[in-house]
Amino acid sequence: MFDILAIEDDLRMRELLKEILSRAGCSVFTAKNGEEGLDFLERRTFDLVITDLKMPDIDGITILSKAREFNPEGLVIVITAYGTVESAIEAMKLGAYDYIQKPFEPEELMLVIKKALDYKRLADENLRLSSQLESCKAEEMIGASPRITEVKRLVDRIAPLDITVVIEGETGTGKNLVAKTIHRISKRASGKFLSINCGALTETLLESELFGHEKGAFTGAVKQKHGLFEAAHGGTLFLDEINSASPGMQIKLLKVLEDGMIMRIGSTETVPVDVRIIAASNILLKKEIDESRFRQDLYYRLKVVTITMPSLRERRDDIPLLAHHFRDRYRGKFSKDITGFTTEAMDALLTYDWPGNVRELEHVIERSVILEYGKKIDISSLPAEVVSRPREILSPKGIVRLEDMERQLIQSALRFFNGKRDSAARALGISHATLWRKVKKYNLD
Ligand SMILES: Nc1ncnc2c1ncn2[C@@H]1O[C@H](COP(=O)(O)OP(=O)(O)OP(=O)(O)O)[C@@H](O)[C@H]1O
Ligand SMILES: [Mg+2]
Repeated sequence: MFDILAIEDDLRMRELLKEILSRAGCSVFTAKNGEEGLDFLERRTFDLVITDLKMPDIDGITILSKAREFNPEGLVIVITAYGTVESAIEAMKLGAYDYIQKPFEPEELMLVIKKALDYKRLADENLRLSSQLESCKAEEMIGASPRITEVKRLVDRIAPLDITVVIEGETGTGKNLVAKTIHRISKRASGKFLSINCGALTETLLESELFGHEKGAFTGAVKQKHGLFEAAHGGTLFLDEINSASPGMQIKLLKVLEDGMIMRIGSTETVPVDVRIIAASNILLKKEIDESRFRQDLYYRLKVVTITMPSLRERRDDIPLLAHHFRDRYRGKFSKDITGFTTEAMDALLTYDWPGNVRELEHVIERSVILEYGKKIDISSLPAEVVSRPREILSPKGIVRLEDMERQLIQSALRFFNGKRDSAARALGISHATLWRKVKKYNLD
């Protein structure tokens, strides 16, 4: 159902509008002058605003620009008196969707409105589809290792069930990605996916973001605002870094989960909410509970299912797959003809510990695609910290040739000191002459 606001100072005309629009199945709000109209616009959003252009207090052009400002997706139709079509054209230039001239037959008005609402319906649908398409492309979960396969299977199984989910895992392991994927394949996919970082805002701000507020609830609350719980109605709300929610906020969240209701700040009225909650934490919530930083009752409310994201070093088999995936993405972005990795570079990627997990890998690949001038990404385009580890884990039998190890160590020391041999020799605990000899032996200059 569409919400429509009709602003018209003429009583008879106002009644007519109300009648016709209600008959069209819309929920209609009327304002008897510009000021009352603006008041409505400040407090809530409408799909369509119909306004008289000429009113005693505030003219329709001002209403038009305010309506566009408050809700760019809403449409405005202006009503103009016979013989003043120029002002209607002016209004169209300023973003009005259409105009109608007084006097008009009810059918004529009906036609204009029907056209506008059809357009609005299409535009909304378009917006929804394109954002879904966007997310499908961006949110592929790459990986074939047992650990990530297990995660994918769990996601497939629980996404259609309307249950609360907790996602735990180190930074960069794909918690946001999983949350979006769950939403995308759930029954709520046509609803919104909204997210908020519980650690990034003060308690007061977070509360107002989540629950909304009434006009005048506090200084600066110039109009009524819907919070995320209301805005995500029918969709999913992702509470990121839930572990950093303050004790007060934890109580408020627990209450919403228990009652299924929220109260805007400054209001005494409860509003039912229909939102699926997914929460993420980059530290183990169990540990936070043991140390009394997280409420156990909230944890049990949230954690109907817990998904634990494996760190990248726990699923090294996926590194080549991910590396090629990101290389492909950035090759396109930077128009570079890079077809793969040298063996040494891939070895380094496989050996490194990846404290920043998939996000770090993505950044490393992006950087190396930019830096690399050859066809294959080589070790020289990788950042020092990725390369400078000895390759002990790498050898198939767990054994490395001493010579390989020495070569590798010298190489990374030289890289670390930007080729300054005396610093490298000192750090390695050998004389300058020995280093010189080994550099020659391994062809390192
Ligand atoms: N399996 C995967 N396949 C492809 N890309 C991935 C995968 N996992 C993570 N990524 C990418 O890595 C980056 C980091 O992922 P994401 O933001 O989901 O991590 P996070 O766990 O939420 O991190 P943080 O704790 O820092 O918020 C994103 O660009 C995401 O698209
Ligand atoms: Mg995240």
